[in-house]
Amino acid sequence: MEKKIIIAIDGFSSCGKSTLAKAMAKALEYVFVDTGAMYRAIALYFLRNNIPFNDIAAQEALQSIELRFKYNSLSQKSDMYLNGENVEQEIREMQVSQKVSEVATIPAVRAFAVAQQKAMGIDKGIVMDGRDIGTVVFPNAELKLFVTADPAIRLERRYQELVQINPAILKEEVAANLQQRDLMDSTRAHSPLKQAEDAMVLDNTNLDRAAQFELAMQWAMEKIKSS
Ligand code: DC
Repeated sequence: MEKKIIIAIDGFSSCGKSTLAKAMAKALEYVFVDTGAMYRAIALYFLRNNIPFNDIAAQEALQSIELRFKYNSLSQKSDMYLNGENVEQEIREMQVSQKVSEVATIPAVRAFAVAQQKAMGIDKGIVMDGRDIGTVVFPNAELKLFVTADPAIRLERRYQELVQINPAILKEEVAANLQQRDLMDSTRAHSPLKQAEDAMVLDNTNLDRAAQFELAMQWAMEKIKSS
C-alpha cells in the first residue's frame, strides 16, 4: 500500500490555495483542512462577543470555543462549525475578513489553532492550507507548496468570488482588504507567512486550475513514491 504523506500548502490570501488543496485531497482520498476557516471562526466569535483583541482576553474566550469541521454532502466539502453552529457562510463575509488577520496575530489564538491542526495530522493523509503550515504546523511535511500569483490576478479572482455573493461590493474595497491582510499576515511577530526553505514554489499567474493541479499532483506522487 502507498504511504500516506502530509501536504502543506501556504501562500498569500486569494491565490487559489484552498481550491488546489481541496482538489488534491479529493484525488488522493486525503483529509482537507482549510486552517483559515478556523481563524475566521475564532474572529467571528470575538466579534459577536466583543472580545478585545489581546492575549489575556483571548485566552479566556478560547476556553468557550469549540471548532469542528463537518462534511457537507451537498457542497462536497467540509463546513466550519463554531460551538455546534454552521458558520461556513458567515465567516466569509467582509466583517470577518476585515478583522481576521488581526485576530490571527494573537499568540493565544495561534497556539489554540496550531495544537488542533497538529493533532489532525497524526495519521498523515492530509492536505492542509494556510500561512504557517510548512513552517510551524508541519515542519516535517513531505511536500510543501508555496503558492503565489500576480497581485492583480489575485484581486480579480477574489473580486469575482465576492461579487457573486454581494453584487454591490467595490473592487477598491476588495483591493484594500487584500493589501491589508497581506501586510499583516507577512509582518506579524508570531509565525508570519513565509516560504519554508524546502517548499516548492507554485506560481499560478499563468496556470489555469487544471494545469496547476496537474503540476502539484506530479510533485505529490513523486513524494509519495519516495517516502
Ligand atoms: O486563508 P484565509 O484568507 O481564509 O485566512 C484568513 C486569515 O487567517 C488570514 O488573513 C490569515 C489567517 N491565517 C493564519 O494566520 N494562519 C493560517 N494558517 C491560516 C490563516
